[in-house]
Amino acid sequence: MENKRKKVDVVNKFTGDSWAYTKEVKEHFFKPKNILWENPKEAKYDAEGIVGSPACGDVMRVWLNINLKKDTITDFKWRTFGCASAIASTSMLSVMVTEKGGMKIDKALKIKPQDIIKRLGGLPDRKIHCSVLGDKALRSALNDWFKKTKQFSRIVVDGKQIIDPNTKTTEADIEEAVLEGATTLLAVQKRTKVGVGFPECLPKVEELIRFYREKYFGADVKS
Ligand code: FES
Repeated sequence: MENKRKKVDVVNKFTGDSWAYTKEVKEHFFKPKNILWENPKEAKYDAEGIVGSPACGDVMRVWLNINLKKDTITDFKWRTFGCASAIASTSMLSVMVTEKGGMKIDKALKIKPQDIIKRLGGLPDRKIHCSVLGDKALRSALNDWFKKTKQFSRIVVDGKQIIDPNTKTTEADIEEAVLEGATTLLAVQKRTKVGVGFPECLPKVEELIRFYREKYFGADVKS
């Protein structure tokens, strides 16, 4: 009876799972800031980034204008067909990056998903993989900017490094598994088969799980 009276926004009819969104999430979902309803003409923006979510197949695009002299982001526009959490998180990220006259690029590169989630007053754990789409698209757009302006040493390459040569599991595969809720070695192995026939890689896998668990879910999440 207690649970029935608890305030929820979404109920999964098939599993019975339910969750609620904060006031800030609803504000940014129902009135998203800096969103574009149409793809813009290319020349209007200095850089563009695009990423897809392996977890759900949704796509996020980000366009930036940058002040070359000050090395700041002066405009951040975005467009997605993702869910409420993807929309609210990217809307909040766009505000964070452009408020106070525009954030320095080096500072924007240090933004963690947990910083955005904190400003949103929290997100359900199952939705954290949606919240990283805007952040990843921002990095992709900044890499586009670094290429266009020949700042090659600033390009940040995503973790494509192979951790287990037998199963061809990469660092990015471990990251995706953690984002989808596999926060223990056993759960990650169930999804990726990492370490089967190559147990030497397991200490590195455990280290990566710890790293991504903390990055996306915060330091105090239970393993
Ligand atoms: S379920 Fe696809 S972005 Fe949230």
